Amino acid sequence: MTPIFQTSTYVQQAPGINKGFEYARSQNPTRKALEEALAIIENGRYGLAFSSGVAATDAVIKLLAPGDEVIAASDMYGGTYRLFTKVFEKFGIRFIYVDTTDTSQVRQAVTSRTKLIWLETPTNPLMNITDIAAVAEISREAGSLLCVDNTFASPYLQNPLDLGADIVMHSATKYLGGHSDVIQGALIMNDAALREQLYFIQKSCGAVPGPMDCFLVLRGIKTLHLRMQQHCINGEKIAHWLRSHPAVANVYWPGFEDQPGHAIAKKQMRGFGGMISFELKKDTIEEVHRVLSSTRLFSLAESLGGVESLINHPASMTHASIPREERIRNGLKDSLIRLSVGIEDADDLIADLQQAIA
Ligand SMILES: Cc1ncc(COP(=O)(O)O)c(C=O)c1O
Repeated sequence: MTPIFQTSTYVQQAPGINKGFEYARSQNPTRKALEEALAIIENGRYGLAFSSGVAATDAVIKLLAPGDEVIAASDMYGGTYRLFTKVFEKFGIRFIYVDTTDTSQVRQAVTSRTKLIWLETPTNPLMNITDIAAVAEISREAGSLLCVDNTFASPYLQNPLDLGADIVMHSATKYLGGHSDVIQGALIMNDAALREQLYFIQKSCGAVPGPMDCFLVLRGIKTLHLRMQQHCINGEKIAHWLRSHPAVANVYWPGFEDQPGHAIAKKQMRGFGGMISFELKKDTIEEVHRVLSSTRLFSLAESLGGVESLINHPASMTHASIPREERIRNGLKDSLIRLSVGIEDADDLIADLQQAIA
């Protein structure tokens, strides 16, 4: 097994002459092994690991300068929105939010200052699908970079670099780690100059993961394919069951043939995953709280992508950092419930939801 190189520094041969490793913020052999694995599973040439998903996003935005513009999805993870609006806007970077599922809105938002297009597909939590290849073409014509947050799909189901993206970002905390025991982020790219710029930011800003965490994500990656297969099987079963339940209103899951974006999802994904959101017909906060507090197998918690199922209330948990007005405008209701379907027995999970919703 790849050893956990639990060291902050490396003995050097002579002043200025090292054996490939000088200081662990810049290089670590466990991290190097992980970064090579990340590149391979995303069909990329280079991988870089960060101390969290938001640290990876932070590194991408640090490629920019004041006056640059970013076109970003109006529906995405709340922490990404918070980083953009609360941290980077004050440094003079402009973020323009559009419904990226409608690629004409992306095209219309392009200006001579557009330097980055930021996509998330499927989105957290509404499972909106954006056509990566179509936006990659717009980005190329605009002379911009395209970064895709591929956390929800995982590299097993979708490879944005193959569809023309310049950078793939992951919260490795989720499916890559897979066991809800590590916080980590990743960037994967093909261009050597871009890798150098991002590596420079990684070592200069210092948001690097520790070797133990790199070991855990390396181990997670070994079972990614098996876990994802089960997440997809369970996700499909539970999504259909929810849809047929008389107390359930909308169910958001990209595998439904009548779901907007299904045709694009089918084109760019190899499966539809285990992330599902839904609303109850009894659209009150009390009823939502009752359901969220009643599950036994689904644990009430933030995060996703682990082997154990989680239930989450985006409005008060993962997406609380988005102002309510904006959330509602983007379709994220107070009553939306999000499930991260794990790899347990699907019938046990359905029985749990049945007793909670009933
Ligand atoms: C889609 C998505 N992107 C990015 C992040 C941020 O990752 P991390 O929590 O590892 O910083 C999350 C976390 O929930 C996420 O769901």
